[in-house]
Amino acid sequence: MKIAVCPGSYDPITLGHMDIIRRAAGLFDRVLVCILANGEKSRGMFAPQERLRLASRAVAELDNVTAELYGGLLADYAAHRGACALVKGVRSGTDLDWEMQMAPVNQALCPGLETILLPASPELSWLSSTVAREMIRYRQPLEKYLPSAVVEALREKETQDGQQ
Ligand code: PNS
Repeated sequence: MKIAVCPGSYDPITLGHMDIIRRAAGLFDRVLVCILANGEKSRGMFAPQERLRLASRAVAELDNVTAELYGGLLADYAAHRGACALVKGVRSGTDLDWEMQMAPVNQALCPGLETILLPASPELSWLSSTVAREMIRYRQPLEKYLPSAVVEALREKETQDGQQ
């Protein structure tokens, strides 16, 4: 079975992430969405468990995709799960430069682990979790940025918080 990992901070998961995950799910038998909430980006808008909850709801529509949280090195996670590839989206030359630095590091940590870069779909290449967080913060309509399951989950949470 060919297993791929789609890694990221997912703070929160966006329609851009979903585009890459869906395409990876068409290429591999199984896709693991690995939420890495350690290191530099650990203190985000959403706590790690909340990121997992939102990502799990978003990928529930895809049969061969599961979301998990991991607190260590991505290469170790991939090795433990028997994955043969990391699949990442690239939106720009800046993303590409970064991924070209990361790929050999992960390859050295886990020999045989390939990094596969998918160009972001043009209609989503402007979208990032940073943009999504700004829209959440300023209470804008979120349908253009987030999967509908995430928009729903955030609305439910807002309603619950409002009742407390
Ligand atoms: O969504 P992001 O923030 O661009 O994802 C970056 C991420 C989480 C994939 C990257 O920071 C990462 O792999 N972190 C895990 C720690 C690790 O393995 N570091 C060495 C990779 S070079």
